[in-house]
Amino acid sequence: MGHRLCVFDAYGTLFDVSAAARAAAAEPGRAALAERWPRLAEAWRLKQLQYSWLRAVTGAHTDFWRVTEDGLDWALEATGLDGDAELRARLLALYRELEAYPEVPGMLARLKAGGLGTAILSNGAPGMLAAAVESAGIGDRLDAVLSVEEVGVFKPARAVYDLVGARFGTAPDEVLFVSANGWDAAAAAGYGFDTVWVNRAGDPVDRLPWRPGTVRPDLTDIPRLAGV
Ligand code: LAC
Repeated sequence: MGHRLCVFDAYGTLFDVSAAARAAAAEPGRAALAERWPRLAEAWRLKQLQYSWLRAVTGAHTDFWRVTEDGLDWALEATGLDGDAELRARLLALYRELEAYPEVPGMLARLKAGGLGTAILSNGAPGMLAAAVESAGIGDRLDAVLSVEEVGVFKPARAVYDLVGARFGTAPDEVLFVSANGWDAAAAAGYGFDTVWVNRAGDPVDRLPWRPGTVRPDLTDIPRLAGV
């Protein structure tokens, strides 16, 4: 209660990270992908995240677009889909314009109508975040799009969560932080944010020193949880 601001993770939370592989698989002439896209999408996401954590702990930062490309290259090879430059380029183009989950525009509008601040806090590089926000048509419902590039390290480094207070002057407990990544919601709870883990797949809770405050299957309940 007493929230002033609702902060969202981007990839997996507002934007459906499986949408690129799913959409490409539905295009004509992509029989192999049509068969293998779920495995490709899962491996792409997992490697993208693993590379972000490994780069954070070793101090070998690069931006999230590069990590996204590296994760895709691993996943294409693992699924026997490497060597098709056109497919690789198509998947990356689709990733820049990922679909937002259907409840996102209405949910953000309700938060704004209720007087709450709204922001994205993401690993994403500024250019890829701007493209995704624009293609989802939600730019006018967000007060800020904060990228880890401001601090040069990926989540869940505390310096990333510090960006919220630095921009909005909020105390951590005035912030409702929403993420579909269980590890991100957990680390944000450890930081002191009030947290919601959006658990669309019904996954087990991550075994970490912190637990998300609330768990929901999608984003529809966020305005109520934010006190709107
Ligand atoms: C993000 C990643 C974690 O948007 O999905 O920060």
